[in-house]
Amino acid sequence: MLATLMFILVYLLGSISSAILVSRLFKLPDPRSNGSNNPGATNVYRLGGALPACLVLIFDVLKGTIPVWGAYFLDLEPLALGLVAVAACLGHMFPLFFGFKGGKAVATAFGSLLPIGLSLAGLLICTWFIMVAITRYSSLAALVAVSLAPLYTWLIKPLYTLPVTFITVLIIFRHRSNIARLFSGNEPKVGAKKAPTD
Ligand code: G3P
Repeated sequence: MLATLMFILVYLLGSISSAILVSRLFKLPDPRSNGSNNPGATNVYRLGGALPACLVLIFDVLKGTIPVWGAYFLDLEPLALGLVAVAACLGHMFPLFFGFKGGKAVATAFGSLLPIGLSLAGLLICTWFIMVAITRYSSLAALVAVSLAPLYTWLIKPLYTLPVTFITVLIIFRHRSNIARLFSGNEPKVGAKKAPTD
């Protein structure tokens, strides 16, 4: 019962799209219909620069971290804890308050994994930064980091491997357009002002 209630509340929290709200606050173009059309920190950076993007990033990370910490202190079992993380990501991807048109949940997933341990978080951040440094593609870096997340989790906290794998599949699914652009050579690199073309 507690887990179900928590799941619903966390989904609703995840449904608050910081990218849309911060863009409105800074009078930026709507990230759902500009740039990559994705309400996330990368696209807000593309459309409005570092400050609004940082605010979006922090809010989206906390949307994952706070509920999972809360569930941990409420003594929820590992599987229920994993489902809380999944609920935060589902809220971000399919937000009730924004017509179910949400983002890709990379930051929210990362935030939800933070309570598992700093070693996992460190591995994910290092993977992301190394991939960005080599390729200059934020999406490719995210795809590589989330693809390795189940393996990292299995090595560090095997109990959480199943929900982490589920989140990985969801995030890869949400990057379909990025994957297509990467293959066609149309994915913009980090810092490029050019809007992605499909
Ligand atoms: O995680 C989101 C990022 O990987 C891609 O964002 O705006 O280029 O689709 P975007």
